[in-house]
Amino acid sequence: MGAVRRKIHAARQLARFQGAVQQKGLSRAARRHKLGATRKRRLPLMWRPPDMTDRPKLLGISGSLRSGSYSTAVLEALKAALAPTIDFTVLTLNDVPLYNEDEDGATQPEGAASLRAKIAAADGVLFVSPEYNYGPSGAMKNAVDWGSRPYAKGSLLGKPVLVVTSSPGSTGGIRAQGQLRESLSAAGARVVAYPHLAIPNVADKVKDGAFTDEKTSKFLTGGVNALVKEIHLLAAHAKAG
Ligand SMILES: Cc1cc2nc3c(=O)[nH]c(=O)nc-3n(C[C@H](O)[C@H](O)[C@H](O)COP(=O)(O)O)c2cc1C
Repeated sequence: MGAVRRKIHAARQLARFQGAVQQKGLSRAARRHKLGATRKRRLPLMWRPPDMTDRPKLLGISGSLRSGSYSTAVLEALKAALAPTIDFTVLTLNDVPLYNEDEDGATQPEGAASLRAKIAAADGVLFVSPEYNYGPSGAMKNAVDWGSRPYAKGSLLGKPVLVVTSSPGSTGGIRAQGQLRESLSAAGARVVAYPHLAIPNVADKVKDGAFTDEKTSKFLTGGVNALVKEIHLLAAHAKAG
């Protein structure tokens, strides 16, 4: 059906329904239900989307605990590349204990509470993980677990997120991507739809806090741009009510 015919069809349906409402006096709830397409919807957001004029605040979480980590190096290089337009904080997970439901009550261990607060305060989060045995590192999965709780109220709920993996090997950690994306989806995060950001041979791509390979830099900043677009889209949607 063409666009014009579709509009005429929709207008006729609406007129027919309005006529039925007048004749039969449908309840307000029933009318609301039938006219659901025009009703405003609320997003399940746990954080206030930024004003469009704000500099987006991004949190970059490294899934590696080691001091010479390439994952952390990728984040530091991104931070430097994006400094003119984005507030970028790099976080390592060395202080975050293993998730234990017994310790997740009214209070939590300091490192876990701090992780949650940082995720909650960010407009968007980058998860940059190494691949350990074809999956994300345990530290990274553990961070997702903390961010996913309390159930239906976790700091990751509704949060726009971007996933990046890297490896000194030739696969770039691509197998860990699927698992990490799936866990983030389970936590209710909005995983940005973008080609899988996997960096193979990462040892040749970053050095001394900067990218040494322009293609990698462009690929990753393209992903971050998609994340920022998603943040602005949500902000506009929330503003519209
Ligand atoms: C326990 C363990 C498992 C690993 N499994 C994989 C793997 O499945 N795929 C891969 O590409 N590299 C694997 N590696 C190599 C890592 O990619 C490499 O150590 C990398 O530098 C770790 O990331 P980082 O530099 O951010 O610490 C593994 C390393 C460790 C310690």
